[in-house]
Amino acid sequence: MVQITTKHIAVKGIRMSAPAYLDATLPTPERVTDLISRMTLPEKVGQMMQMHTYDGVPHVIEEFHVGSILHASPERLDEAHTLQERTRLGIPLLVGEDCIHGHSFFDGATIFPTQLGMAATFDADLVRRIGRATAREVATTGIHWTFSPVLCLTRDLRWGRISETFGEDPWLIGELASALFRGYQGDGLSDPTAILATAKHFAGYSETQGGRDASEADLSRRKLASWFLPPFERVAREGCRTFMLGYQATDGVPITVNEWLLKDVLRDQWGYTGTLITDWDNVGNLMREQRLFPDYGHAAAAAVNAGNDMIMCTPDFFQGAQDAVAHGLLSEQRIDEAVARILTLKFDLGLFEDVRRADPERQREVIACAEHTELNLEAARRSLVLLQNDGTLPLERGGRAPSRIAVVGPNADDADWTLGDWAGASGQADWLMHGHPREQIATVLDGLRALAPCEVTYARGADILTTGPDPEGAFFADGQPRPQVVVPCEPDEAMIAAAVEAATGADAVVAVVGDRIELVGEGKSTATLELVGAQVALLDALERTGTPVIVVVVASKPLVLPPSAHRAAAIVWAANPGMQGGTAVAELLLGRIEPSGRLPISFARHAGQQPTYYNQIDAQHGTRYADLTQRPAWVFGEGLSYTTIEYSDARLAATDLGMDDAVEATVTLTNTGDRPALETVQLYIRDVTTSATWADRELKAVAHVTVEPGQSVDATVTVPVAECSIVNARGERVVEPGAFQALIGPSSRRDQLLAADFTVA
Ligand code: NOJ
Repeated sequence: MVQITTKHIAVKGIRMSAPAYLDATLPTPERVTDLISRMTLPEKVGQMMQMHTYDGVPHVIEEFHVGSILHASPERLDEAHTLQERTRLGIPLLVGEDCIHGHSFFDGATIFPTQLGMAATFDADLVRRIGRATAREVATTGIHWTFSPVLCLTRDLRWGRISETFGEDPWLIGELASALFRGYQGDGLSDPTAILATAKHFAGYSETQGGRDASEADLSRRKLASWFLPPFERVAREGCRTFMLGYQATDGVPITVNEWLLKDVLRDQWGYTGTLITDWDNVGNLMREQRLFPDYGHAAAAAVNAGNDMIMCTPDFFQGAQDAVAHGLLSEQRIDEAVARILTLKFDLGLFEDVRRADPERQREVIACAEHTELNLEAARRSLVLLQNDGTLPLERGGRAPSRIAVVGPNADDADWTLGDWAGASGQADWLMHGHPREQIATVLDGLRALAPCEVTYARGADILTTGPDPEGAFFADGQPRPQVVVPCEPDEAMIAAAVEAATGADAVVAVVGDRIELVGEGKSTATLELVGAQVALLDALERTGTPVIVVVVASKPLVLPPSAHRAAAIVWAANPGMQGGTAVAELLLGRIEPSGRLPISFARHAGQQPTYYNQIDAQHGTRYADLTQRPAWVFGEGLSYTTIEYSDARLAATDLGMDDAVEATVTLTNTGDRPALETVQLYIRDVTTSATWADRELKAVAHVTVEPGQSVDATVTVPVAECSIVNARGERVVEPGAFQALIGPSSRRDQLLAADFTVA
């Protein structure tokens, strides 16, 4: 084997030029062409493969010549880079990881609120800064590529992966996904602090049946074009360098072989030039679950012919693709195109010059540095949503201060669940099963103990669940672990009695309830949305004490809360709020900060109301079920502050607009209370008459405005007329001339929005 590492190689005293692909002064396309001309078919097929390293590293590099690995511990990653340097052509590895709310599986890295928590800030710049901080940390650890952001649109709340999303609104998803990927990719891939971003899961994966993960996604092309595709189109046009497919099939066609979406839409219509990666063993699924092909040769050929470049975790792709070439099912030219896209990423990242191995010195400077911790606290504070308050909050107000606070509930002191899925001990990383360092995480109990200037007592009060083995076995056919079966806990009289004792006579009891990792994640959708286990019995018992109950819901997604919670003094939703989450919650409860989060997703009253997203087409008989209102408990955009803000005098800069104009809406906000507020002013557009049925209103822009007590300020929100569009019955996105309304206010609730009319000519 020849190892080519230097620009000039001396052979028997003769100086020979190094191969062109090693010449950093040449343009990338020239280097790519040169390198491909030197590769054998097995090397090219291997270059298209991404494999996990759970079973070790040598075989994936020596047997499969893989181009990429994922899920590697720092030790395995180091070994992989070393082995890779010794390969015939020395093509550097591209290393991927799910760094989806911080560097998820790097011991002690900064873990931010989950993506759903980030969405509750409605703040694109804050999300961009989170992306930047994450990239800075990741880039010091030998990893080049994060599988983030998630652009899936939430529909059925029972789906297990809600916490990975930005919620239910296509505009908000596009806005925040754009910010997050730009944060990751920084000033461009040659920047040593930049990492590759991935827009996933393309497209329609979240349109589940009954919330069941990876089910058939029953979507028309028009529905896709209306709501699911716009966020992807935005980041494709803006330069997100990789896209990952979902697992789903739509209208009988698995996304892995959906040439219409992968070629006609993504590449031809949107002009996307980046790289496409499948999800985990999608090629195997084409045979096994989806049963479209008899063998790996046919499945590999179909996947590559449809436009996939990198194949995640399908070891049999290696032989399958070579067989496909031998049998004329797949051309080597198509393989070359895929390899070229992968190599382009490696050249653009500069990996042939510097493979960016882990750098312990930089890690000491950057990982969980003070600046990132401060940013994380800012994100956690902004992510908290106050849903209900009878005036009990804030606990310190106008000279009032509590003398004893009781803290109860199974999530009050659960450090791992403060972080949420895809972090530390959530189960995807076999090298971090113990989770992130406890001392870096502030639970709600930690936060209150540190900040409350009074006695803080604690009793757990309730358990949520235990688990048992799945009778169908420990692993799925694709090698991924099968989740255990959840067994809800019964109320325990002694635990409840201890919580009641703690609450009795306290100024307030903070009950921290919610879900747990066993109810959340891939393959872990739930049939119900209620609080599991002994939690409802605990809340009911606390209500009977007469002490004001503050319910803090540390939950990955909206849950259905019991009547005792709806009658409680206050409710705060803290989507897994990250390492600083407990500090932020304590600050909010005490009144050291103002609540400012808004719901990026609606909370149902009952699982049977699904779906509850606000921008549904509501041409139906009536507005309610016979036995229950159709209204969710809290809707998209809602969130209280500690003051009252009145919206008045909605007006437009101009009301007769042309296609190239912008709608400029202004509203006056008056703070009639005694605390400042950070308002998220929301502009929705209503097209009065449409050529096809459409949502009553859709969010198009927001503005963040601080309003001091007693102050009146004007807030202006702008949206181009070109974005006041619908998708017509032919599936085309168009602005239809005629009458429109700008609806402006503090949430998506129709009765909270002020209307101003305009026309488009
Ligand atoms: C499967 C998940 O669906 C995807 O989101 C993730 O990036 C990959 N596994 C890699 O972990």
